[in-house]
Amino acid sequence: MPHVTFLPLGKSIQVAPGTSLLDAAKLAGVALAAECGGKGTCGGCLVLVESGRAGGDFADFLPGEAVRAGYALACRAVAGGEDLVIRLSVEPGAAPESAAGQFASGRARQVLPVSELSPLVTMLALDVAAPRPMDGLGDFERLSRALAAATGAARVDCPLCILQTLPQTLRRTGHAPACAVHLHEGVADIVALGELPPRALGLAVDIGTTSVAVELIDLKTAAVLAHDAGYNEQTRRGADIIGRIGYAARPGGLAELRELALRTIHRLLANCLGRIGADPEAVLAASLSGNTTMTHLALGIDPECIRLDPYTPAVLAPGALTAGAIGLAIHPLAPAFFAPAVGSYLGGDILSGLLLTPLAGNAPEPRLFIDIGTNGEAVLGGEDYLFGCACSAGPAFEGGGLSRGMRAQAGAIEAVSLDPQTFEPDLAVIGGGKPLGICGSGAIDAVAGLFRAGLLDASGRLAARPDLPRIAPDRPGGRKSRFILAQPDVTADGGELALTEPDIENIIRAKAAIYSGCQVLLDQAGLAFADLAEVIVAGGFGHYLSIEDAIAIGLLPDLPREKFRFIGNASLAGSSLTLVSARHRELQAELAARLTYLDLSLVPGFMDAYTAALFLPHTERERFPSVK
Ligand code: FES
Repeated sequence: MPHVTFLPLGKSIQVAPGTSLLDAAKLAGVALAAECGGKGTCGGCLVLVESGRAGGDFADFLPGEAVRAGYALACRAVAGGEDLVIRLSVEPGAAPESAAGQFASGRARQVLPVSELSPLVTMLALDVAAPRPMDGLGDFERLSRALAAATGAARVDCPLCILQTLPQTLRRTGHAPACAVHLHEGVADIVALGELPPRALGLAVDIGTTSVAVELIDLKTAAVLAHDAGYNEQTRRGADIIGRIGYAARPGGLAELRELALRTIHRLLANCLGRIGADPEAVLAASLSGNTTMTHLALGIDPECIRLDPYTPAVLAPGALTAGAIGLAIHPLAPAFFAPAVGSYLGGDILSGLLLTPLAGNAPEPRLFIDIGTNGEAVLGGEDYLFGCACSAGPAFEGGGLSRGMRAQAGAIEAVSLDPQTFEPDLAVIGGGKPLGICGSGAIDAVAGLFRAGLLDASGRLAARPDLPRIAPDRPGGRKSRFILAQPDVTADGGELALTEPDIENIIRAKAAIYSGCQVLLDQAGLAFADLAEVIVAGGFGHYLSIEDAIAIGLLPDLPREKFRFIGNASLAGSSLTLVSARHRELQAELAARLTYLDLSLVPGFMDAYTAALFLPHTERERFPSVK
């Protein structure tokens, strides 16, 4: 049977011929971003076959150029008779989940098949009756009739700025104007009329507490044309949502946070528009997902009540506002749709992510969806129940709160393995250059590796090993220690790159918050981790997540590895879906109504569960039998 080795993690597994590379990766404890679940459409599982020949029909889903260069989609490629060496991280420097998807399809990832599209804004070619003497109709009335006939809308709303130039528009276009219209609840809101941009674009946004990600999507084809991600500029005004709410209460704080959120989105949007040579006015719709506090801040709504008993947000479902009204620099009349929230701490980001999971249907067997971000959330669902909680993990898994932490982007250490004899670290850096920092997956690897090597105890203390120069005091005379991952002469900025004990404490607190939140959620349903049919993990880790290492530190439960699925940034993918699909917007509203929020602070026993999880992998070692 052939061996399949996955780089840069160096994990190897023997599989039967015919096993897909995605399944082989799972068996090796590696979860690739597989947003489409193996249909070959998302590109998240793009890998490079460095050695050996893979079979399967992956070539049908990739441009010939990519196939010739050795790329394959792990979900469609299978092991044959010979050993394979597969490189997981194939990104030459950009955010992994984006360019991989674009490369996979040759041009762009497809959010939905064209036949299923019903975007937030519909493009129409209207045929408006020409005016006749004594017909008793104005230009707007004839336009309304044409629009009602084309869409079935009971009412047509036309903004004043379009009315002001309507006579010229109709006559200039020979009474056959193109029209972009936002249809909702029997109403047709005119967004643009006359000559529309050659390519109507939509903007999908995930407003995370630490990171913001955007996608530009062609509204006629649902193809993702550009992607970008970066730090939320609000982070300098508070690391988490409680810090931001506190900052918003200062004089001018709320306006500043709103401005920083918009500035972040505009910076990323400008990068995307620049890449495809398009104008902001061509963006005719936007769909945004964020936790409840991020949504309030982006809209300039005071979030103070979110943190005050009885924890009531100002609004759960802002619905579709106009871009101009909220200061979003796209077409000013474009509808900007905000994903609905369930409560103060279970927001639109999780409801967008759920759209990518079987929990959005009535999956009969219990499944757990975990979104690992600064405001980590978990949702447990089965045939007739759906409830979720917020875990307040903090930003460690997004590189925040770590002395040399950074997002999963070029320069980030994404994988660490320690030589079993010398304990010298082997670092895999996104983009292949010198390391600049360490991202969440690298930090998980490093902690797991140090723990397995016996250099880190269960409480997160580094061993006293004077014989190992890589373990040194955190600062001269300090009582804490650090593990030096890279000396200054091999880093991108000439500074030392180390993982300190305070960094490790942050990672342990973050993983404890997520694990104990999930445990309490299951307890409430009378279930155990072993009862789960599937654990779906989302988060901004980049292209893949080492499930093995996440289990080793006690972040994820110790279950058979094939039960795990990693779907990347699910909030952004869900925003893209609601941008182009009315069915998904309706489904999201139904989920918001079905989902019950569990406030962990009110659950007796949560603090005990959290405290017990503040060890590697856990105080109750029997919960992690496979971790040696
Ligand atoms: S293309 Fe392979 S999982 Fe989506």
